Amino acid sequence: MKITIVGTGYVGLVTGATFSEIGHNVMCVDNDESKVKKLKRLEMPIYEEGLEDMVKRNVKAGRLSFSTSIKEGTEFATVIFIAVGTPPGYKGEANMSYVERVGREVAENMKSYRLLVEKSTVIVNTNQQLKRTMNKYLEDDIPFDVASNPEFLREGTAIKDAFHPDRIVVGVESPQGAKLLREIYEPIVTSSKCEYLEMNIASAELTKHAANSFLAMKISFINAVSRICEMTGADIKQVAHGIGLDERIGKSFLYAGVGYGGSCFPKDVDAFIRMGDEVGYSLNILKEVQKININQREHMMRKLQHELWVLEDKVIAVLGLAFKPGTDDVREAPSLYFIPQLLERKAKLKLWDPIAREKFDQIHPGLSYFKTPLECCKDADAVLILTEWPEVRNLDLKKLKDVLKVPIVIDGRNVFEPVEMEKRGFIYKCVGREPGKPIDKK
Ligand code: UGA
Repeated sequence: MKITIVGTGYVGLVTGATFSEIGHNVMCVDNDESKVKKLKRLEMPIYEEGLEDMVKRNVKAGRLSFSTSIKEGTEFATVIFIAVGTPPGYKGEANMSYVERVGREVAENMKSYRLLVEKSTVIVNTNQQLKRTMNKYLEDDIPFDVASNPEFLREGTAIKDAFHPDRIVVGVESPQGAKLLREIYEPIVTSSKCEYLEMNIASAELTKHAANSFLAMKISFINAVSRICEMTGADIKQVAHGIGLDERIGKSFLYAGVGYGGSCFPKDVDAFIRMGDEVGYSLNILKEVQKININQREHMMRKLQHELWVLEDKVIAVLGLAFKPGTDDVREAPSLYFIPQLLERKAKLKLWDPIAREKFDQIHPGLSYFKTPLECCKDADAVLILTEWPEVRNLDLKKLKDVLKVPIVIDGRNVFEPVEMEKRGFIYKCVGREPGKPIDKK
């Protein structure tokens, strides 16, 4: 089937590549000319494992093309996915102007039936606004449908997630729209045997915000428990394992750390809270989730400050800039919280990240980067771990100790074992794991 995807960010590009890989004929549209030029030269604007090969393969096979024109995209296919950004706008609510513009331009250019599918994360009932916009800009009485098909892929494992989703959620209200979407997803549903859920559009839209908010809540919950662990001598890894084996709770997303980041959780939790406020229900539970997330970072900063006492002129090796391993994305990454503060306090920073350096440098130019974690740690007064890259997990601890000026490791991702680190002579501070600490009753 012919499909147009508007927006070539993580979601749009991965979706476009995936659809072409399963045999559809896809046109990806983006108004960023330089991005489209790059894509036409088969250069990827983002790092995502397996994406480049898949794009190259499908472009060569003639199933994937790129354009800057929504008009061209509207003429090309009956089904048009909207995968443009919905960044935080005025007062933090999701900015829907890009979504609106796609609706408008499709309406202005369509000559026959079109199905417009919301792939971007949108506020519940965006479909109503989209329909109103379409109706306003349509010249003739041409039929169209709007559907919602939220994306659940994770950066770093997006390709795998696209082919093996836990479920596919489709919000649709006409038989024609439902049929088209079933046809598109049929190969994935057949091969992965995942659940294919059809529901009303508002439910599909809401599912996305509810899912991301729930996951963020799980992380903040375990981070809150980690604080209690630190005050009582309990170990958060053991507690997380103990509760995670209960199938009703589940093992995943129970890793305590410096808090969640990325382009989705912070923005989506915020947008969901605002939506609740707007309809008259205060999602206080999520406000607390946000507070815990920020507090976790402040808490790690205090640990670093406590160990170093004075930060000025101290050499700090920061390992990891991306918001999680497997991606070069630094949006809302913990590094963006720590590094400006450390610079302000006149610490001397040495940075390492295997792929996020370029993106970080665009935000904070002129900092010193090193090729390997060990080179980065050489002569440092302390190490700060912010992303659990395999290169960090596999660090040779003997060598690490040898290269450091002072063996202080502040680990925001619980990469190492506290007992072993202490045995090896490190001053090791991590999250929710302070074995042997007596109960603090204050
Ligand atoms: C998230 C969701 O997991 C996807 O299902 C969703 O499709 C996506 O947002 C989106 O809305 O587009 P992503 O932002 O790529 O995916 O990253 P996650 O793997 O969910 O991690 C988010 C953050 O939580 C990271 O900073 C990670 O380090 C942190 N995290 C995750 C923890 O601190 N602890 C955990 O146990 C799990």
